[in-house]
Amino acid sequence: MLILGIESSCDETAAAVVRGGRQVVSRRVASQDDVHARYGGVVPELACRAHLEVIPFIIRDTMADAGAAPADLDAVAVVNGPGLVGSLLIGLTAAKTYAWLHDRPLVAVNHVAAHVYAAHLEPGELTYPAVGLIASGGHTTLCHAASPVDIEYLGSTIDDAAGEAFDKVASILGLGYPGGPAIQKAAEAGDPTKIDFPRAMLDRDSLDFSFSGLKTAVLYHVCGQGGKERDASELSEQEIADVAASFQEAVVDVLVRKSVAACEQTACRRLVIGGGVAANTRLRRALGRAADAEEIDLHIPEFRYCTDNADMVAGLGAHLLQAGRTADLALDAVPQLGDL
Ligand code: KG4
Ligand code: ZN
Repeated sequence: MLILGIESSCDETAAAVVRGGRQVVSRRVASQDDVHARYGGVVPELACRAHLEVIPFIIRDTMADAGAAPADLDAVAVVNGPGLVGSLLIGLTAAKTYAWLHDRPLVAVNHVAAHVYAAHLEPGELTYPAVGLIASGGHTTLCHAASPVDIEYLGSTIDDAAGEAFDKVASILGLGYPGGPAIQKAAEAGDPTKIDFPRAMLDRDSLDFSFSGLKTAVLYHVCGQGGKERDASELSEQEIADVAASFQEAVVDVLVRKSVAACEQTACRRLVIGGGVAANTRLRRALGRAADAEEIDLHIPEFRYCTDNADMVAGLGAHLLQAGRTADLALDAVPQLGDL
């Protein structure tokens, strides 16, 4: 089975051709980091325009790299949500047009389910059921996947996504964009116990997240109560490192504790992580330790499959096609996770 996957839910324009649900034949990812860097976060309207500029060429080149003709494809799989509505619509329109033009079936893929499935792309191997922690600039979600195509949400952020918090705190500290790698680097020289930033656990059994209070706590710590009395230029390099390390620790702590709780609540001993924040080395190490202690089988996909990509979309698309779950040309974008 040969599937063309298309992904444009946030700020990466991606296409991939995947054989048999797991073997990546060709892949292309166009990042928009340069477009959004000066704003310190993704600007939806700019993301939409940047997708539009490159998507025909990304699809053309991915097919050429695979040496595949449209007639070789069993289906075109596309992410229809969750994500930024304008961004989603670009990928969706491209996929529908391609599928219609070449008379191929269309398959709608849930972006969060695709992130969980990423752990099953070669050389990875994932057995279901699995709990997924998907943390990126756009979402922070815990889900339970009974099978690749059967997913239930356990909790999600009620305000900022974890990656968004990294980006905003990096901006407060003057560390640049994207903030995750910059905070991680600054944190290497810092003391994670120096500042006791809040860990929002919400209700006792809640698997929802909240990071906006933590972001505000960092803002007040760095810039004074009210957030405008001073700025990060008054901090020494060591003080910036300590803030970065203490902030990172607070995020990691919450992500690890809630992931373990999600495994307990669903009686599932398998955990998959995905999304850009899954690249964080401190998170990987802490999850590894927790997984060992709790006897949880931890899956961390290769880095290129953690961040947004179309490989995971084409891979999961094969299972959806097999399950007969094709879509028609009326398929619409569904930006909100809860509506999927
Ligand atoms: O999945 P992704 O590439 O794109 C979407 O947001 O959809 O994730 C990007 C996010 C950004 O917020 C970035 O700051 C964060 O992932 N990120 C990290 C790290 N690398 C990327 N956060 C923490 N630590 C990292 N090493
Ligand atoms: Zn994502």
